[in-house]
Amino acid sequence: MIPVAYLIASVCFIFGIKRLGSPKTAPSGNLIAAIGMAIAVIATLLHHDVIHYGGIAAGVILGSVVGALVARRVEMTAMPQMVAAFNGLGGAASALVAAAELVRLESMGISPPPQVGVPIVAGTLIGAVTLSGSFIAFAKLQELMDGQPLLFPGQQIINALIAVLIVALCAQVVIDPAATTSFWAMAALALLLGVLLVIPIGGADMPVVISLLNSYSGLAACATGFILGNQVLIISGSLVGASGIVLTNIMCKAMNRSLFNVIFGGFGATQEMGGGATGERGPVKSGSADEAAMILDVARSVTIVPGYGLAVAQAQHAVRELADMLGQRGIEVRFAIHPVAGRMPGHMNVLLAEADVPYEQLVEMEEINPSFPRTDVALVLGANDVTNPDARENPSSPIYGMPILEVDRARTVMVVKRSLNPGFAGIENPLYFLPQTMMLFGDAKSMVERIIAALKEV
Ligand code: TAP
Repeated sequence: MIPVAYLIASVCFIFGIKRLGSPKTAPSGNLIAAIGMAIAVIATLLHHDVIHYGGIAAGVILGSVVGALVARRVEMTAMPQMVAAFNGLGGAASALVAAAELVRLESMGISPPPQVGVPIVAGTLIGAVTLSGSFIAFAKLQELMDGQPLLFPGQQIINALIAVLIVALCAQVVIDPAATTSFWAMAALALLLGVLLVIPIGGADMPVVISLLNSYSGLAACATGFILGNQVLIISGSLVGASGIVLTNIMCKAMNRSLFNVIFGGFGATQEMGGGATGERGPVKSGSADEAAMILDVARSVTIVPGYGLAVAQAQHAVRELADMLGQRGIEVRFAIHPVAGRMPGHMNVLLAEADVPYEQLVEMEEINPSFPRTDVALVLGANDVTNPDARENPSSPIYGMPILEVDRARTVMVVKRSLNPGFAGIENPLYFLPQTMMLFGDAKSMVERIIAALKEV
């Protein structure tokens, strides 16, 4: 019965992930995957190797309480670091299971054959790298350490030497599983490698790193599945490994960067030097909520461009109210969604879904870009880098080549943000100096509320 239950659980995971592909089907996808996980857990608990339930029950209760508390209390903007911490713990669990199995077999005087030895070292190695790497990513995003890339001479060579040493130690443990000192040395070096691999990566690239580490945690779980002969762990680990890589790739493409450049490029270290002006800057035109309301009132089409600042200001409910209000006046309202707007994949979709913005109003970048020249107003709310025309026009810009939402092609651009300060990439945005741009300085939520109040008066 257990393999059958595992098979059902695996099918649930696959269907669950498939349904996560669209916002409409995502809630049921999440539920199906959760049911699959419940089936997998129950089936595992029925295994005859499980002889007492006390410790397991304590672990489940403790883990569930901590998990639920953390998930409920975390700010939406701190979600990436929470995912990083959970990934790290996933890696740690796999590494601990792998190490425990080696210790158990050794204590029984059994020398694990290579088909068990290889997953043991792989699970420990990948799990340890995931653990320490994820916690560095967590610390950078939580601002417990400097988010700037930490670069020093000979860094790549040192990393390469450590990697070679780890491979040699792994080979030694597979050939002679009694070499436990080498095993523990390998685990310690893997922890060090995780730290060294993530410190040279800037805070702006952390979501990509977290997605990559998520993929690693899946591979570590997969290796653990081979050690324990547990099919559902092998399948779910592979699913996490593969989907993590796919997501990493999507993010890299959306930033027009290679994964190699993200990991080894030290992006962000030279941000202050970046920027690269495309020419003379005109004066900045700033406006008020009343002026914005008057322009919106006579518009026929408005495209709202949400960004990280919308999440910071928690302006999603206010913006939904504004969109509804404009819609009631016969104005066509759409939301332009950039794949890396915000700080995590799907950040804007989640935020707007929370405020019940209809999915039909959310339009992907490729689809909406051609319509900007026919758009009366592009209302940019707390988005910056994803609207920077330098990415299209200025080859010396650090974000040159990154696909952007082409709001500068709209008839009027209104930008709500608190200052002229740069966004995550740390570079100036020439959009703010264009003649058709009006800056609305202020917190996104209070500015939108003021525009709503002013619209009621128009
Ligand atoms: P950003 O370029 O980071 O700009 C956000 C802007 O929001 C800031 O310029 C800030 O300006 C403004 N802001 C902050 N708090 C605000 C508030 N309370 N009210 C109004 N405005 C506020 O954001 P974006 O355009 O969404 O771009 C995302 C960036 O993250 C990109 O560089 C992207 O490459 C990077 N990134 C994202 C991901 C994913 S998966 N999303 C992954 C890796 C990297 P003020 O300080 O002047 O208010």
